[in-house]
Amino acid sequence: MTTHRPTGSEPPASPIPAETTVLNLPDEATINRLAGAFFAALPSGMPGVAALGVAAPSSPAGLPDTFPSALGSVPTGSVPVGSVPTSSVPTSSVPTRSVPTSSVPTRSVPTSSVPTGSAPQSSSAPGAVSAPRSSAPQGAVPPGGPTPDVTVPAWGADVPMSTPSGPPPTSTVRNADIHTDPFLVGLPSLEQVLSPPRDAGPPAVGAPEFYFLERPQAPAAPVNSQFYFLDAVRHRAPDRHPPFDVHAVRNDFPILSERVNGHPLVWFDNAATTQKPRSVIERIAYFYEHENSNIHRAAHELAARSTDAYERARDAVTRFIGASSAQEIVFVRGATEGINLIAQTWGRKHIREGDEILISHLEHHANIVPWQMLCAETGALLKVIPVDDRGQLLMDEYTRLLSDRTKLVSVTQVSNALGTITPVHEIVAQAHRAGAIALIDGAQSVPHTAVDVRSIGADFFVFSGHKLFGPTGIGVVYGNAEVLRDMPPWQGGGNMISDVTLERSLFQPPPGRFEAGTGNIADAVGLGAAIDYVERLGMDNISRYEHGLLEYATPRLAAIPGVRLVGTAADKASVLSFVMDGYEPLEVGKALNEKGIAVRAGHHCAQPILRRLGLEATVRPSFAFYNTCEEIDRMISELERLARAVR
Ligand code: ALA
Repeated sequence: MTTHRPTGSEPPASPIPAETTVLNLPDEATINRLAGAFFAALPSGMPGVAALGVAAPSSPAGLPDTFPSALGSVPTGSVPVGSVPTSSVPTSSVPTRSVPTSSVPTRSVPTSSVPTGSAPQSSSAPGAVSAPRSSAPQGAVPPGGPTPDVTVPAWGADVPMSTPSGPPPTSTVRNADIHTDPFLVGLPSLEQVLSPPRDAGPPAVGAPEFYFLERPQAPAAPVNSQFYFLDAVRHRAPDRHPPFDVHAVRNDFPILSERVNGHPLVWFDNAATTQKPRSVIERIAYFYEHENSNIHRAAHELAARSTDAYERARDAVTRFIGASSAQEIVFVRGATEGINLIAQTWGRKHIREGDEILISHLEHHANIVPWQMLCAETGALLKVIPVDDRGQLLMDEYTRLLSDRTKLVSVTQVSNALGTITPVHEIVAQAHRAGAIALIDGAQSVPHTAVDVRSIGADFFVFSGHKLFGPTGIGVVYGNAEVLRDMPPWQGGGNMISDVTLERSLFQPPPGRFEAGTGNIADAVGLGAAIDYVERLGMDNISRYEHGLLEYATPRLAAIPGVRLVGTAADKASVLSFVMDGYEPLEVGKALNEKGIAVRAGHHCAQPILRRLGLEATVRPSFAFYNTCEEIDRMISELERLARAVR
């Protein structure tokens, strides 16, 4: 295995000198022995680690292949999901990784056919959004493609460029108070919400379907009841699912102990950004204390450490979203920058006058504006898949809008404003049948569900680290290898080149070609730690638990006089948008803040969908796996007080 040892230097036995190992940790052999004993000691009645969906901490990104030292304090046989071992600090056995930098790809044609030269479409066509075309191309790359004197056999090759079970533990839930509240008389009990009878019909009105998860084929098997918080989990999924100890999980998040305005913080603004577990915070601190250097350059030890940490984070992303190779993972600042990158590289190369780009009415501005800009530059048309009044995509309309003029379909997997989950597998399949490329905005989905980009089939998938319990300023573009190889660079500068003369530049293959300049190295490493964290919890566990929160909150919120839920799709994740008679959304947000409850109030950077529903703003609580039913009770109680005040 090639490592990032500086040329000519002697690799030390460990990339971290002994003097930096000051953590008083057991040696590696001891740790591995403890880990082995731990897994062996799991009782046969409990699912094994793999079945729990808890990723064995064999090789967390940026971390050693040794087991976290905190494990030693976890009692065997009683390991709730949650209480994730958070010893995230590398010990003296950090393995190094190799990063291929010299391979030169051959040119290949993208798998999805991208017809060009389609006849221009009238901008008054149904579904078309008026996109004024600028009189002249605004970018460095003309709409017709690279300038004629540039031969481009393969980006990244030597290419001259002339220009550039049982009852839930009641200690974790509290619904008695709710049922004494006059607003909530007649509501199902918590037990009814979370544990409907086996022959129960459809979910309660307004309650979302059990999103993302396969319904169990067999009746639920008995489970170890003491670990179950949500009995719905037992009902809906058999014993392969683990317990979820939300209180243990919360201990991993230091900020959740904050008090705001004299009250314990309730963080219901997870769609805007998520809080960070201690393991992420410590991993970033460790980077700056022991590894900080620029990457992929310099003949010194710290460059090797930082490069290894950065590339291990890329490996973590690769694993997390099911990409084929780390070469398909480009680090960017966030989902917004990712979509802009795609628009300005793939888009400028492939989109021509008369081509059509399809988005949905649900999109965040980040998946609207870059396409408007591209359409203005090229003369392409932006068309919009409509939604119904519940905020669900009208798939028949989508099918109708697709044609051989469609070159790109770009939709969100989860709406940030409404929480609607879109049928991305079907959307991508139809796009490909029409010969179009498909981009999925996963900013609001990756924190809540397991994602497999190969299963979805998307050519591009983007997400942001900070919504996934990682740092701000780091995000990901996944691009199918063939599509990425065919894309020109976006920004020019360091890191993305393989050779520069004053006459021409040669570029790296992906992903380096798209990572000009010094990137956000430390936060990429922090994102790797965040991925390790959620993988240990298990994304299916997270989905299941959060779904319980949504099922709990939805009917209670809907029962408050004057509250109108905004976005009531059958399949939803995390988000509960609403408006309230007698109050502007901002007033509700401020009132909740007085009680320490953080929600977003406003247009959520998704004005078109709110306007489609007759609104300019909503109040938007959005949940994550560290939220609880008690916190929902607190919010409901304050909203009831507001409702009473205007009656
Ligand atoms: N996209 C973020 C949100 O939905 C900022 O709040």
